[in-house]
Amino acid sequence: MAEIIASPAALPAALDALGRGECVAIPTETVYGLAADATDGASVARIYQTKRRPRFNPLICHVADMAMARRVAMFDALAETLAAAFWPGALTLVLPLAPGSPVHPLALAGLSTVAVRMPRGFARDLIAAFGRPLAAPSANASGRLSPTSAEAVEADIGDRIGLIVDGGPTELGLESTIVAIENGQARLLRPGGIPVANIEQVAGRRLERDASGAIVAPGMMASHYAPRAMVRLSVGSVAPGEALLGFGPERALGADRAAAFLNLSPTGDLAEAARNLFSHLRALDRPGTGVIAVEPVPDFGLGEAINDRLARAAAPRGE
Ligand code: TXA
Ligand code: MG
Repeated sequence: MAEIIASPAALPAALDALGRGECVAIPTETVYGLAADATDGASVARIYQTKRRPRFNPLICHVADMAMARRVAMFDALAETLAAAFWPGALTLVLPLAPGSPVHPLALAGLSTVAVRMPRGFARDLIAAFGRPLAAPSANASGRLSPTSAEAVEADIGDRIGLIVDGGPTELGLESTIVAIENGQARLLRPGGIPVANIEQVAGRRLERDASGAIVAPGMMASHYAPRAMVRLSVGSVAPGEALLGFGPERALGADRAAAFLNLSPTGDLAEAARNLFSHLRALDRPGTGVIAVEPVPDFGLGEAINDRLARAAAPRGE
């Protein structure tokens, strides 16, 4: 079992553990991350080992300020504009690696680009105090739901790590939006906590999307974010025995028959739904639950990222 210490009092213990090359679970505004020194190969290796994550799936490097960001990656004018508008915050930029970048190659999985993000709050304070970038994937076992609370981290990987910093439930509940910038072009790799329309407005252009639906971020396997139960999407009616994940004020037919019911947002608020998505899926995913039926969620704004995660939760399992 991991030690759980509330932030910000956990800062010295977290610094100590990172300095010894350990992984520490930390809160960010999106989801909890499993952080380690991005410049140290043994530390980065421990992240992959702890998550049982495939080594071909690169990590996001988290930075405290623009000076650190520029040592890690090369920023063109568009990248500068997006960073100025959205950092610190839930935007990850995939950029060319800076010459002499301190990030260990293991965190990059052999790519010549690097994913960079400046988080808000405790995570940023920790990186500033540590003085080096932190590699941090979401703090779940590979393929499972991202954790939005210290308890969720503890339940998933608590037996494999020493310290969990408890910052309470995360503010956004969804991972960052990932945008790759290459030769002045911007491409959406993963919808997330910042709606695409907000980014397009600041960028002054549409983000390119991969029309084929092929994996663009190496970690975006179809089956990801998988609860143990099967997931059925956009249901109009509920079969007896199914658990129901609702959205908005109106109920699917047969909702009264559902074995369990949670509502992402009774008023139909997408930000509230994003915050509740992973915690509600976890709560409904109990041993007795065979199927989680999910009511339709509109596909605009944060709804795009919510539907992306739901589609992955419902995808056929590879294992
Ligand atoms: O909100 C977040 O982004 C959270 C918090 C902890 O910061 N982190 C997170 O990390 O979601 P992770 O590892 O679960 O997802 C990162 C995604 C993966 O799909 C990975 O393949 C992709 O980013 N990625 C990382 N480096 C990349 C690169 N150079 N090119 C393309 N995709 C990359
Ligand atoms: Mg993840």
